[in-house]
Amino acid sequence: MTESLTVHVPLDGGRDYDILIGRGLLDHAGARAAALGGRAAVIVTDETVAALYGARMRAGLEAAGLRSGLVAVTPGEGSKSYATYAAVSDGLLAHRVERNDLVVALGGGVVGDLAGFAAATLRRGVRFLQAPTTLLAQVDSSVGGKTGINSTHGKNLIGAFHQPRLVLADTSTLDTLSEREMRAGYAEVAKYGLIGDAGFFDWCEANWRGIFAGGPERDEAVAICCRAKAGIVVRDEREDGERALLNLGHTFGHALERVTAYDSTRLVHGEGVAIGLALAFRFSARLGLCAGQDAGRVANHLALAGLPTTLAQVPGGCGDADALLDAMAQDKKVRDGALTFILARGIGQSFIAPGIDRAEVRAFLQDELRADGSSA
Ligand code: NAD
Ligand code: GLY
Repeated sequence: MTESLTVHVPLDGGRDYDILIGRGLLDHAGARAAALGGRAAVIVTDETVAALYGARMRAGLEAAGLRSGLVAVTPGEGSKSYATYAAVSDGLLAHRVERNDLVVALGGGVVGDLAGFAAATLRRGVRFLQAPTTLLAQVDSSVGGKTGINSTHGKNLIGAFHQPRLVLADTSTLDTLSEREMRAGYAEVAKYGLIGDAGFFDWCEANWRGIFAGGPERDEAVAICCRAKAGIVVRDEREDGERALLNLGHTFGHALERVTAYDSTRLVHGEGVAIGLALAFRFSARLGLCAGQDAGRVANHLALAGLPTTLAQVPGGCGDADALLDAMAQDKKVRDGALTFILARGIGQSFIAPGIDRAEVRAFLQDELRADGSSA
């Protein structure tokens, strides 16, 4: 049996589940899926992941006695759309997925969010299994039950909370991931240290190369992140409070994704998050909340890992301060029109800051846009 680490997510109402983390876990996906019950398991994936792992996953499901099927979408953020959601839902129905069957999300965060949302709404809710194949999805998006698609009004604005029954994070699948996507996922890894675990950020500074290289540090990092996320999700599943901390860097990051039209050739989610993390720390320093030294340390580490940390690094530009503010206006944390940011008093000391003055944000963004990148 493949060695794996297990993180339990102890949600109430019989909704608790395990996150299994280890190399080679995909080979056990069939048996694990069959143990959840049902007669069929239909995979939702994207074309890139289908070519790499689709046949192996289907063979495992069939060998475990499950009728299998596969629905593949175009890779990239553009698939978190109404049109693709409709195609996936119809595809699952064409495969005769019933209430007791299983939807298997095999892929990155795009597939997880899309397949999870389709599972949440198909026949008013069918069970689903997350098999994340990007670093970002293994440390963040496959855990916690947020599912959804984008609207022209903004990111993730159409969605549902729908928890998976199991998360199978086969960390060997990251061996085929591009360097760019590894780096993008690493922004979310570093985020956990920045939110509430300064010791983990120190560990990241010392061990990030091992995560990229596929050493034992990789599984360890995924487990640490999943443990942190599981804790937050169990305490605040519906994001009435603490869960918003997971959005550190995301108010800026989501706005950047929106002004770059969700075009993955320009900016992928994790790159937006990396710039957002650096901005959140520089904004905190500007407001006198945290030391400039901490902001510098955050940007330096992300840059060392190959991530962008300034607005000047957005390919094709990102518009002016007003365009960015406009893109933030539909952030899910907006309350009565006022912006809420996740700010920091230092590394590992993030907090929710409601009612941030738009003029203050505009002035900050204008200065960042004037900078030539040397602030990183
Ligand atoms: P992604 O799903 O687009 O995957 C990135 C690229 O990697 C794709 O082109 C994909 O085909 C390819 N790929 C995936 N696995 C591969 C593998 N093993 N080998 C080779 N190529 C592979 O992007 P992502 O970064 O995984 O996810 C980003 C999405 O996740 C965003 O839409 C974001 O909003 C969402 N997200 C959701 C949550 C949540 O809680 N639900 C949290 C964070 C992010
Ligand atoms: N990534 C944000 C959340 O799961 O809440």
